[in-house]
Amino acid sequence: MSRSSIFVCQHCGASSPKWMGRCAECGAWNSLVEERTTGTSSKGNTRGSSAYAVASSVQQLSELSLAESRRQSCGIGELDRVLGGGLVEGAAILLGGEPGIGKSTLLLQAAAGLAQGQPVLYVTGEESAAQVALRAQRLDLLQSPMEVLAENHLESIESVLAQKKPKILLVDSIQTLFTDTLQSAPGSVAQVRETAARLVRHAKGNAMVLWLVGHVTKEGSIAGPRVLEHMVDTVLYFEGEAGSPYRIVRAIKNRFGAANELGVFAMEERGLLEVRNPSGLFLRQHPQPVPGSVVLATQEGSRSLLVEVQALVTPSPLANPRRVAMGFDPNRLSLLLAILHRHCGSFLFDQDVFVNIAGGMRVLEPAADLAVALAILSAFRNQALPEGLVTFGELGLAGELRPVAHTAGRLRESEKLGFRRAIAPWSEQLGRSNELALHPAQSLSDAVSLAFSS
Ligand code: TYD
Ligand code: MG
Repeated sequence: MSRSSIFVCQHCGASSPKWMGRCAECGAWNSLVEERTTGTSSKGNTRGSSAYAVASSVQQLSELSLAESRRQSCGIGELDRVLGGGLVEGAAILLGGEPGIGKSTLLLQAAAGLAQGQPVLYVTGEESAAQVALRAQRLDLLQSPMEVLAENHLESIESVLAQKKPKILLVDSIQTLFTDTLQSAPGSVAQVRETAARLVRHAKGNAMVLWLVGHVTKEGSIAGPRVLEHMVDTVLYFEGEAGSPYRIVRAIKNRFGAANELGVFAMEERGLLEVRNPSGLFLRQHPQPVPGSVVLATQEGSRSLLVEVQALVTPSPLANPRRVAMGFDPNRLSLLLAILHRHCGSFLFDQDVFVNIAGGMRVLEPAADLAVALAILSAFRNQALPEGLVTFGELGLAGELRPVAHTAGRLRESEKLGFRRAIAPWSEQLGRSNELALHPAQSLSDAVSLAFSS
């Protein structure tokens, strides 16, 4: 066995043959850690390439079986929705989120839903079996037929897998596992990468579904680096605000369904409950319209949601006024401020600007542009927008308002929640609406005069 050591950046996963103070790939300081390997990697392999050709067989595309497309429900509708309609055989799913957000709770509830009629193994490296039992009792799932293994040694887990042959394996969490082939500590990039890769390989080879829980670090990445994300088929992230019971599970990547699909849950005394009709959940009702508050019709995957965009604009005592965006891209905020300056004559260079998407939602689509711009303007002018107004649309650098996808869905949802007017980008598909007065706009200045005219 060959023994070698490399230095791996704990931030981006790049490796280097010698130690450096700064990672050459991602620029992080002091992030390189020595990792010794006891050569089992493919580099040590001496088989000629012709030997592999015999081992793996080539098949005609048309003759491949479509068994993969069968989907299995986990018994939780909102979770099936984010998975693109249920679980696919052999899929590897990563469930990421901050500590305490509800990963273990959701995992146990999914395990119980899946344990009907097939062997399910729940591996806990983080909590003792007794702690898992306590949670199961709280969730009223003690009678569920799954098996629990408190272990974090990968080789031991593999031998249990060979013996029990579970159809579903759940691991909480991947950062606690370690393998004997590496000498670095559990949770280091090398360990996380190697243990995850071995489990994923096992899942693919045995048509087993693999669920991995991954902690998100302060910088918002799983396991420090994003090394896990491209190893698995589906990446789900938990989002939510401390103090609010609502939790969003978002598909960041999904090989078997639409990315950006979301599921909404509420954390209750007895576990996570589904919220099936969340469209009005993120709207805070004000008795009267207030300056700086605009309702946005946003689209997440196949779902339209109405959210409140809030802005606060105050004169800044600082040489570099603050621009703070919560639930919204800060770069996009700078861009919108420049557009407001250039195309609306609103000079905000000496103002602090704060933008918040209410209820802990995160809105990533450019269709939020118009709502954010109007919220800032409304706060700046200290003038509220009329009641019952909803809006969406992307802003271009020339101040034009660009059409966005799912116009009909957004309008339908707004109508359902009792909104009476909508300012939307002009497009051929805008159509008509019975309940909603539609105001098409071609530019930001059009939209501003429509919004502030009444
Ligand atoms: P947990 O699933 O342990 O979070 P994670 O695995 O992501 O660290 O959830 C922890 C929080 O959820 C904890 O603060 C307690 C709360 N909780 C409930 O409110 N109701 C419940 O039924 C359960 C099991 C947990
Ligand atoms: Mg946990």
